[in-house]
Amino acid sequence: MRILILGGDGYLGWPTAMHLSAKGHEVIAVDNYLRRNLSREENCEALYEVPNLQRRASLWKEASGHEVAVRIGNLCDWSFTADIFQEFRPDALVHYAEQPSAPYSMKSREAAALTLQNNLSTTFNVIQAVNQFAPECHIVKLGTMGEYGTPDIDIEEGWIEIEHKGRKQKFLYPRQAGSLYHTTKVLDTDLLWFYVRMWGLRVTDLMQGPVYGVETDENAGREDLYPFLNYDELFGTVFNRFIVQAVAGYPLTVYGKGGQTRGYLDIRDTLQCIRLAVDNPAGKGELRIFNQFVETFSVNRIAEVVRKSGERLGLKVEVKSLPNPRKEMEDHYYNPAHTGLIELGLKPHYLTDETLDRMMQLVMRYRNSIVAERIFRGVKWKA
Ligand SMILES: NC(=O)c1ccc[n+]([C@@H]2O[C@H](COP(=O)([O-])OP(=O)(O)OC[C@H]3O[C@@H](n4cnc5c(N)ncnc54)[C@H](O)[C@@H]3O)[C@@H](O)[C@H]2O)c1
Repeated sequence: MRILILGGDGYLGWPTAMHLSAKGHEVIAVDNYLRRNLSREENCEALYEVPNLQRRASLWKEASGHEVAVRIGNLCDWSFTADIFQEFRPDALVHYAEQPSAPYSMKSREAAALTLQNNLSTTFNVIQAVNQFAPECHIVKLGTMGEYGTPDIDIEEGWIEIEHKGRKQKFLYPRQAGSLYHTTKVLDTDLLWFYVRMWGLRVTDLMQGPVYGVETDENAGREDLYPFLNYDELFGTVFNRFIVQAVAGYPLTVYGKGGQTRGYLDIRDTLQCIRLAVDNPAGKGELRIFNQFVETFSVNRIAEVVRKSGERLGLKVEVKSLPNPRKEMEDHYYNPAHTGLIELGLKPHYLTDETLDRMMQLVMRYRNSIVAERIFRGVKWKA
């Protein structure tokens, strides 16, 4: 298949580009380096240097013989986007190209405006370009489990049947996001659902939980092909952050009571899920939604398993509760369904001591590059 990876320089985009090219697909990775530029502006670059996208594509070609073509540009720019679709006419695309940080989106008016404009414009341009140049193209879109929030009832996989005064209909499961970033994902889903109904697009919307890890089958033993490992509050995900905090001797930053529970997955499972979605496309006029995570953890539990991993490796790890800078429930019911991807064939990599220890050992090799002031800044949800 011809597959576009939008956001192909990102934490997940680059491993996906390698993975799908290794499976024999023709892949173009598109990116405008927004993530790198924001990290630099905010003084929160990743733990180790990551070569630019063109350089990584050459390293990957040398290592594997597989090709990833690269286009650098802004997907909010219609003529740039239209040119790529017109030239390539993809069979499928994976849309990662968004500003993905909740704290960044809550940091200032400017950061909120960038997040809203960027995320909705890329999604809008993708929809328009598919309709105009590749109407059969399967859109695989990254949403987030955060679209649902933490309701006091079970979370279904995207849809819920509602019975009202004796009549029934299936609707999108109610959304109540907890940050502006998550709200842009809710708006994306609405936009996609609207155009699926109007234009019969094929869409898979993946409600993904936070991802951890950097090692995949394609980059094993090749640290120059690893994706970013951010450990700062803005762009780091919680497992990755806690592991770096443990190595740095920085008390693990649990917010409030630490009962915040979410669904997590190993980066290798992100790749499996994307491949399964691509190999089994949504039907024409279908908005198919999967909840993309394999197991749930509370923040307290994550702190505990990271602390134990640190102990196994001779580190003394402290856990500290901080006043919660966010507005969120710290103790809540959480029971989301996640059977769709398993039914498609997902074989989960559940978190093991070995996985955690390998990550910890990787970070220990970069111990001297950790900049402690990047770890916590306490972006408040309400000033
Ligand atoms: N990482 C996670 O744990 C996680 C969890 C749930 C959902 N997601 C979603 O998955 C997607 C990928 O996440 P990630 O962690 O790889 O983020 P990332 O920031 O590393 O990757 C996104 C990439 O898109 C690029 N991009 C953004 N706007 C663009 C534009 N206008 N034009 C071209 N490129 C643009 C960025 O430069 C970046 O390289 C995001 O949409 C994110 O919201 C991620």
